[in-house]
Amino acid sequence: MISTADIEKVERLIHLSETNPVLPDEFIPWHMQEKDELLLPRELVSLEGHPLFDSLTETQKRELGRHEVVQVMYSYAWAEGLACFIFNKRLLKIPPDSVEYRYLVKELIEEFRHQDMFARAIRLLNGRKIKLSKFHQFVGRFHSRYMPASYQFISVLAVELVTDIYGKMIRKSPAVFEPIRKVSELHHIEEGRHIHYTKMWMKHYTDNAGFFKRTAFSIVVLLNIWYMRSLYVTKVNFEAIGVDDPAKYANVARKHLKQKFGTFYLDEIIEFVNEFNGFNFITKPLWRSILAAKL
Ligand SMILES: [Fe+2]
Ligand SMILES: [Fe+2]
Repeated sequence: MISTADIEKVERLIHLSETNPVLPDEFIPWHMQEKDELLLPRELVSLEGHPLFDSLTETQKRELGRHEVVQVMYSYAWAEGLACFIFNKRLLKIPPDSVEYRYLVKELIEEFRHQDMFARAIRLLNGRKIKLSKFHQFVGRFHSRYMPASYQFISVLAVELVTDIYGKMIRKSPAVFEPIRKVSELHHIEEGRHIHYTKMWMKHYTDNAGFFKRTAFSIVVLLNIWYMRSLYVTKVNFEAIGVDDPAKYANVARKHLKQKFGTFYLDEIIEFVNEFNGFNFITKPLWRSILAAKL
């Protein structure tokens, strides 16, 4: 729901999408061949920073980065498909000439381009991709079908904030293979606008939310981050790089990533939850235990 005061801002976003589209076909040097660049910045590789990481050869470290970045893009593309479904449902309820409708159509176009771009990048890297677990698929589908719109939009926002953290770090790492850096840069530019819009839209719900609603929003954000984080460390990736005990590696990597994530990647998300007063005696302990958040 967009307030009258924000209409002008949304018009500006629509104008930006029209005048400055970032097209994957033109923006990304798809023709480039890999040499021995990194495929994911070292610090984003799940196991990096843990002593077990040093037991891997340079090639194994690089290949782990390949499988993880492919899995990240695969999961995001899937999540963006869900976001498009949510936006489409919203469109059916609002007039086509409203500012909200016009912006959502722009966002849909961009999100479809992103999915197309991620699919192409996945093919380019030729990494292992693992279908989402039945549990993940069920939660995603249930949420996007049956939850109220405000919960769905806050979920989209949470996922966009996580994606953006990764995007920022990847695009700023000169050691990373250029097409992947450009994919991240493109995504960062357009997601920045989406985040701006969704925050405006959410204000309508968060501004007057009481204790219960704020608590629920905070938990929805938390679950979305947990959901995205739990998608990309898998035993299959460790099998693919040929370690002796893949299950052990995956286990350690999962725990290690949780700590890293809590320490380094949550700042912007915590700031957002703070904006709507989402931390309280119920949510704080959950954020600390599930996300290792430093609150
Ligand atoms: Fe996107
Ligand atoms: Fe987006």
